[in-house]
Amino acid sequence: MGIVARDRYWLLESGSTAFALGLDDTGVLIQTWYGPRLPRFEDYPAALRGPIFAMEYTMQQTHQDLATGEAGASDERSIDAFSDSGLRGFVLRFEAAAVEGDTLRLTLRDDAHGATVTLTYRVLEAFGLISRSVSVRNAGSAALHLTRLFSGTFYLPQSYEFTLNHLDGRWGDEFRMQREPFIHGVIQRESRRMTTSHGGVPYFAVERSAPGLGAGEENGALWFGSLDWSGNWKLLAERTRDGRSIVHLGINDHDFVYDLKAGEEFAAPDLFFGYTEGGFGAMSRSWHDFVRERHAPRRNFVPPVVYNSWYATLFDVNVEGQSALADKAAAMGVEMFVIDDGWFKGRFHDRAGLGDWSPDPRKFPQGLEPLADMVHARGMKFGVWIEPEMVNPDSDLYRAHEDWIIHFPGRERTLGRNQSMLNIGRADVQDHLIDTFDRLLSGTAIDFIKWDMNRNISEPGWPSHDRDQREIWVRYVEGLYRIWGELRRRHPNVIWENCSGGGGRVDLGMMAITEQSWASDNTLPPARLDIQEGYTQLFPAATMAAWVTDEHKDAFPLDLRFHVSMAGALGVGGNLLEWTADELETARQHVAAYKDIRPLVVAGDLYRLVSPRSGAFSALMYVAKDKSEAVLFAYRLLPSRPLRNPLIRLAGLDENALYRIVDSARVLVGAQGSNPSGYPGTSTRSTGGSDGALSGKAWAQIGLRLDLGDLDSTIVRIKRV
Ligand code: GLA
Repeated sequence: MGIVARDRYWLLESGSTAFALGLDDTGVLIQTWYGPRLPRFEDYPAALRGPIFAMEYTMQQTHQDLATGEAGASDERSIDAFSDSGLRGFVLRFEAAAVEGDTLRLTLRDDAHGATVTLTYRVLEAFGLISRSVSVRNAGSAALHLTRLFSGTFYLPQSYEFTLNHLDGRWGDEFRMQREPFIHGVIQRESRRMTTSHGGVPYFAVERSAPGLGAGEENGALWFGSLDWSGNWKLLAERTRDGRSIVHLGINDHDFVYDLKAGEEFAAPDLFFGYTEGGFGAMSRSWHDFVRERHAPRRNFVPPVVYNSWYATLFDVNVEGQSALADKAAAMGVEMFVIDDGWFKGRFHDRAGLGDWSPDPRKFPQGLEPLADMVHARGMKFGVWIEPEMVNPDSDLYRAHEDWIIHFPGRERTLGRNQSMLNIGRADVQDHLIDTFDRLLSGTAIDFIKWDMNRNISEPGWPSHDRDQREIWVRYVEGLYRIWGELRRRHPNVIWENCSGGGGRVDLGMMAITEQSWASDNTLPPARLDIQEGYTQLFPAATMAAWVTDEHKDAFPLDLRFHVSMAGALGVGGNLLEWTADELETARQHVAAYKDIRPLVVAGDLYRLVSPRSGAFSALMYVAKDKSEAVLFAYRLLPSRPLRNPLIRLAGLDENALYRIVDSARVLVGAQGSNPSGYPGTSTRSTGGSDGALSGKAWAQIGLRLDLGDLDSTIVRIKRV
């Protein structure tokens, strides 16, 4: 485990992942292995250049760790630049290596440019992951202009066929799981919208395509990785003519230039990657542990039960209305009351106000304090919604600083949701926003911020920038991290929720600076089950804000709506003033039950048992790390044909320990065959001991069946006896 360095060769082993690099005798850094761990150091392949074929040169099939395209190589490159000296591209040779504990640092050099490239690999043993970062320093005298710098290039084992799994989407339909075989040529997935975008997450999970050799939920090989970045990204899955499969992932090079004047350095975002033979479930569990225990700003954070007033009141907010909602929320057991959009100056609709972050005097004549006090007096914490990166043309900020807007001079400024984007790549705009929100957070007792971002970029210009304007794609995101990081530093107790018109900016970059993310504006249970399955491929349930709203409330029972949200960070967003006494009481009971199971949901291991993509019935469970207990969630939507609820085989339990179902009211069988007809309502019988306990292995092999009708759901607790 860890790093072995020997004879100009470096082997990194982390959990089930092995990754190896070596130098050929001319100092080219060659990636020799990415996949399962092999028994001996000597087993790993030597660092050799590729064979020579007619009309091709040796670099063509050489697995350069940073593909430069030198010496006639014509596959996709990892790095590219041009220099004011007239020189283009890179030729990189080894300069130095250093191993310090779990970190390997390799320096390569381009003599003609006088540039150095530093690759840093870190073994994250506890999670079976490895991180990689790359930076370029211009140590020469002429300015360099970077046009591509991917954070990672991965050569998959040769002669296999592969299938790419990724997440696709659009507004209201985020985290859609996609599976596509590599094609000859390149599959390209990307964002060009300045944010990660609803259109996907910078992530790949590659499995073998051969029948029977692909990955399942709990079996099969997967090569996977994700980028620590919240801006434009690009994923290339390349199949070369000679049958090699290569994956590149990094900042998008679309419309991208980054200037490196003499002495300057640029660091690409970190990329985390791994390999497992335990399928998607094992992959997800390593991502979840990594985010919760290492990457998140607050380790092992337990999300509060949130009430958010957006769906109830839209822009129509004031002290009285919010107080009335807060009363109901408090009685329900809510822990965090959040006032959404509409509280600030001039914000009566979405055509004005963004940019002017003081309470609207007509709605809140004495500021937000009376509401904050009232919420606190009811034993809840208090949160507010902001959208710092945005400005409406109808705002004092816009009128004072038209030049702060991202735009192309002489061209129309396209509005999105009636708003423009501030250029937060600029240091003065960053300072303004840090001051503004520092004041807001210092002046009122605010415990929680929902930070929204509700449009895509247009006219990505920065006319006053004294460097290449296309740096905006990177400097904007760096500015975002600076503002957010500084506010977090100054207000360490505030909890931050990430939102972008739903899940338009969910990625490892955001996981590092926020406690939770709003997965989608779509809160319908059938959509949510799919979205949540996609979201949790990478991101833990603890970060997945999930509210019960009133959308199509007549079509979906309240229990079902709660059970869907309880599989994440539960929130409530309905208009509680319109809920009946029965509904409020049911909700109170669900909130109490959630608090009971919350430790399992937010800190447990996720096992997806039946995918919602497989039909109307789905199930998942969270198992405590010490395997002492578990909670099972099961849902039955509206099947289009007769459906017998499938047998659910529990997963993740200790095979030899005995487990009992705590509340078995909805459990039809304790052993196979006890319920031959399978229809709800059939009489049931438990087997095992007199108390119905079975071994973990029996629950996994034999399983259970649930008594669920249409649009029905349940939560079942399982405890070790
Ligand atoms: C976006 C968010 C919503 C809400 C509105 C407010 O659409 O996703 O949750 O905050 O903005 O304008």
